[in-house]
Amino acid sequence: IDWISNWEQPICLSPSPRRFLLAPGGVKMATMKFVRFIMKSASLASVPKHIEHFSKFSPSPLSMKQFLDFGSLNACEKTSFVFLRQELPVRLSNIMKEINLLPDKLLNTPSVQIVQSWYIQSLMEILEFLDKNPDDHKVLGEFVDALVTIRNRHNDVVTTMAQGIIEYKETFPQDWVTNQNIQYFLDRFYTSRISIRMLINQHTLIFDGTTNPVHPSTIGSIDPHCQVADVVQDAFHNAKMLCDQYYLHSPDLILQEMNEKNQPVSIVYVPSHLYHMLFELFKNAMRATIETHENSNSLPPIQAIVSLGGEDLSIKVSDNGGGVPFRKTETLFSYMYSTAPAPQIAEYARPPLAGFGYGLPISRLYARYFQGDLQLYSMEGHGTDAVIHLKALSTDSIERLPVYNKTALKNYKVSQEADDWCIPSKEPLDLSCYKVAK
Ligand SMILES: Nc1ncnc2c1ncn2[C@@H]1O[C@H](COP(=O)(O)OP(=O)(O)O)[C@@H](O)[C@H]1O
Ligand SMILES: *[C@@H]1O[C@H](CO)[C@@H](O)[C@H](O)[C@H]1NC(C)=O
Ligand SMILES: [Mg+2]
Repeated sequence: IDWISNWEQPICLSPSPRRFLLAPGGVKMATMKFVRFIMKSASLASVPKHIEHFSKFSPSPLSMKQFLDFGSLNACEKTSFVFLRQELPVRLSNIMKEINLLPDKLLNTPSVQIVQSWYIQSLMEILEFLDKNPDDHKVLGEFVDALVTIRNRHNDVVTTMAQGIIEYKETFPQDWVTNQNIQYFLDRFYTSRISIRMLINQHTLIFDGTTNPVHPSTIGSIDPHCQVADVVQDAFHNAKMLCDQYYLHSPDLILQEMNEKNQPVSIVYVPSHLYHMLFELFKNAMRATIETHENSNSLPPIQAIVSLGGEDLSIKVSDNGGGVPFRKTETLFSYMYSTAPAPQIAEYARPPLAGFGYGLPISRLYARYFQGDLQLYSMEGHGTDAVIHLKALSTDSIERLPVYNKTALKNYKVSQEADDWCIPSKEPLDLSCYKVAK
């Protein structure tokens, strides 16, 4: 299931490039591989041209309603196919242009090279369908298979990219401008990835001819009646189990729902996205609660409030976990920051409770993806309120997508400008020189 999130698994060392060399297996096989290799590199040569072409288009953001229409009773697989064989190359190419803008030292790490090769491979596989006949059922079937292959290929993109950042961080000193650029890039890169997986999931789930046995009313990965409180309970329960494993105890939950009609709050949404955000917030709240109440024998509960208004659906998760200094609030959303020790690479047995520092930034991307947001309000010495804001109306839930154009390009060229605010002096000002002779 998608919501058993990739980025909570320990970072696996990226597969070594050696894997791609010829395996021992006779001359004939080697020759065949060689021929295939030549053929591949022939089409590889045309890749930059395709990227150039498709990156000139802006991605087309879909609304929740359009997603539902693709999956409604008169859903047309052909329409979806024709849309995706254009839109997927556009989204892939737009972000591939930005990968190329990364600092060379990061771009050339083995991990980023592998990620880049995945994107090239997937782009080529979709381009194969450009001249195929949409009326041919076999073609439609092959397209679903191709999408599944692509989705699986990209499963480890986040951890592999994270590995690249770690390699880079270990080798080169950090400077402010590069950090800003990497933050800007990763926000866009991961948003793009979320959106591409959304498109792929919708098409494959709707057109593989089966229904979801657990939730028959879902349309692809969207639940038109997503019961928010249920997802809150689910996420809390699973975070609690993890917490019990690590700390041998865990705080309780107090959940409150606020809306006009006094009915359970529901929303048209992707439950796995909502789950992902809540699971991350609960893990953070639990860790903070336990680490600040080490010496007391009762833990203050975590509070969650679900509130529905005309425009927003908000979910607040509050803890009494001591909070963080206001100055640091923004750094918590940085991909280069975590206060937990990095989980051991070999720790396959269980997912870590914390440690990659990706929980908050990725959760915020999920919230923003459908025009929502995630904010943290901390009071150092007391605790933290984390609030997820979502659009209450499905007509307002529209994909928020990065586009590669001159504006984006300019943002990669930011340099640290000289400050235009005074630097506070540490020395007390010597006022004696201002004394006027009487
Ligand atoms: N509720 C909270 N209370 C106190 N500190 C928090 C809270 N949530 C997050 N933090 C701080 O923010 C950091 C980043 O959180 P996150 O992005 O989830 O990464 P990770 O949990 O892997 O470190 C945490 O290491 C922690 O120091
Ligand atoms: C980049 O694209 C965005 C969204 O389409 C648009 O608002 C912006 O004006 C574009 N910038 C340039 C320089 O074309
Ligand atoms: Mg966390």
